[in-house]
Amino acid sequence: AEDGYDLWLRYAPADAARADVISRHATAIVAPGDSATLKAATDELQRAVAGMTGTKPALSAAPSSGALWLATPKTAPSLPVKMQALGPEGYAIRSTQVEGKPVTLIAANSDIGLLHGAYHWLRLAQTGANLDALDIMSAPKIGLRLLNHWDNLNGTVERGYAGQSIWDWWRLPDYKGPRYTDYARANASIGINGTVLNNVNAKADSLTAPYIAKAAALADVFRPYGIKVYLSVKWTAPMELDGLKTADPMDPAVAAWWKAKADEIYRAIPDFGGFLVKANSEGQPGPQDYKRTHADGANMLAAAVKPHGGIIMWRAFVYAHDNPDDRAKQAYSDFKPLDGQFADNVIVQVKNGAIDFQPREPFHPLFGAMPKTPLMMEFQITKEYLGQSTHLTYLGPLFQEVLEADTYAKGKGSTVAKVIDGSLDGHRLTGIAGVANIGVDRDWSGSIFNQADWYAFGRMAWDTGLSADAVAREWAAMTFSPDPRVVDPVVAMMMGSREAAVDYMTPLGLAHVMATGHHYGPGPWISNLARPEWNPVYYHKADAAGIGFDRTRTGSDAVSQYAPPLARRWAKPATTPEQDLLWFHHLPWTYRLKSGDTLWDGMVHHYDRGVAYVADMQRSWDSLRPLIDAERFAQTEAFLRIQRREAQWWRDASIAYFQSVNRLPLPAGAAAPE
Ligand code: GCU
Repeated sequence: AEDGYDLWLRYAPADAARADVISRHATAIVAPGDSATLKAATDELQRAVAGMTGTKPALSAAPSSGALWLATPKTAPSLPVKMQALGPEGYAIRSTQVEGKPVTLIAANSDIGLLHGAYHWLRLAQTGANLDALDIMSAPKIGLRLLNHWDNLNGTVERGYAGQSIWDWWRLPDYKGPRYTDYARANASIGINGTVLNNVNAKADSLTAPYIAKAAALADVFRPYGIKVYLSVKWTAPMELDGLKTADPMDPAVAAWWKAKADEIYRAIPDFGGFLVKANSEGQPGPQDYKRTHADGANMLAAAVKPHGGIIMWRAFVYAHDNPDDRAKQAYSDFKPLDGQFADNVIVQVKNGAIDFQPREPFHPLFGAMPKTPLMMEFQITKEYLGQSTHLTYLGPLFQEVLEADTYAKGKGSTVAKVIDGSLDGHRLTGIAGVANIGVDRDWSGSIFNQADWYAFGRMAWDTGLSADAVAREWAAMTFSPDPRVVDPVVAMMMGSREAAVDYMTPLGLAHVMATGHHYGPGPWISNLARPEWNPVYYHKADAAGIGFDRTRTGSDAVSQYAPPLARRWAKPATTPEQDLLWFHHLPWTYRLKSGDTLWDGMVHHYDRGVAYVADMQRSWDSLRPLIDAERFAQTEAFLRIQRREAQWWRDASIAYFQSVNRLPLPAGAAAPE
């Protein structure tokens, strides 16, 4: 059944002409060696070619005409490729000849590189690419490309919209169901090389012997696919698990506890990746409870994993209930002074924006501001604030926008991508994480189209220069069909979908106006929550005269956390990009937008545009009915219906609320809220 389980690895039968092309380029598979990784690569090639062509290519010892030849310097000493440029995980794919016979060479320094190369070749095969005259080299610039699961030990998933956790803690470590292997295949196919198994709001139990054994069992499944396991840890675990009196990072007994715990984990998982830590954030304990800094805490843990080659990912998502300052400024205020104080196996993990995974935020001011500290990106693949499981809101454009954003930290061209790939400041420890959208739903991600966000995250983590459009094209071709009559309209739907959500939820730089707790649906009127910075009214500050958060010098001065060229530009409404206008400025409802509209009329037009876009997506999708299998067609059709209704809900509720504040009429032609 086309229930989405196979993700973008469907390997559906190709039409006769294409099947012939693929067959001629995969007459046999030559892959000397016997590692589990190599077997994963050849299994995948065989399964895929058999699926697309009907014939499973045999494994053969020597390159024959039309063979796929997988080789490392160990199995083929003089490969016609600059091997050094490929690094440990990269690969080359080259149409070449061996003893006069045409072959497709996939070359890498390691079997993991061969696996990545095999997946790349399969992507070409699936998307209708020309398979002659290939000359490809690819190596990731970012070292750690991780999923962060917010999975709890009780099987629930925080902000998960695809069912319960895929980790079956009850039956691990003995039973390792086939889904774990499919998970590893999917991740390896897009270059993801690590996974943090449990929620950042961690329970101490994840570090007990039974859970270490369960994590070790998963690590065994993932290892052949080049995927390492990491754990989130709770700061007070030494107190909770072993009755220590304190969790003060300067207390020798605390440091000794963590060292012993690290030793215990590495005995079970020799290639364990390290720890992810949410400390002193949203009620989680941390070193500040003992008047120590984030660096003190991170460095103590870093020392524990250092002898084993492990790392600490220390999150910068912090804001405190007793800090009256603009929430958007607090992470920078806490972390910027610590630049240069972190141990060399610590990397600070920063969300893409300063508030919280909104439909749009300016890039986080810490990017570019801590040159002596490796920073890793945290994106949210699961769509807490973008429609959760049903709305079609492709995140590729969001990822691209953030990665391309210029921090100006070292002059023009200091993009966020260069901060996190280490090239701007010369860091070797580099990383990018995506909060996973995976659960036990048959389609893994809560909807077919949400799979594209997982896919795009992996592809863009591997190559930050890829465009969201190119990635969407690959995904659509692999997921539905390489037929341009499918790919073109599907990609067109996807590419504008995130902007549509911005339009119907948070136009012109608004943020965090979602309903409380679940963050689903509108709630701009909410003002009664205990912590002021949880209330939507805190973010939009609408009153009879105007709307928006003044983050210039007359307000919170968050603009001064950005490099001077940006701080200057964003200090004035006229030179602030309109997409971020109300993020940085409180403006009168009568403020003139570039379109000539007043701010109020312009806002209404944005809401309307968002709703109209969803209606357009419905029309596009309906026209695809003859070209898409019934099951996946029906899911998307139904979800678009939900999205259309809810976009309208967002629009109407937002407009009605803001009208109750500003008492302004609707612009000509706009429909009254229903
Ligand atoms: C958001 C989200 C929480 C999550 C937190 C985090 O606030 O709503 O569920 O725990 O981010 O990233 O730590």
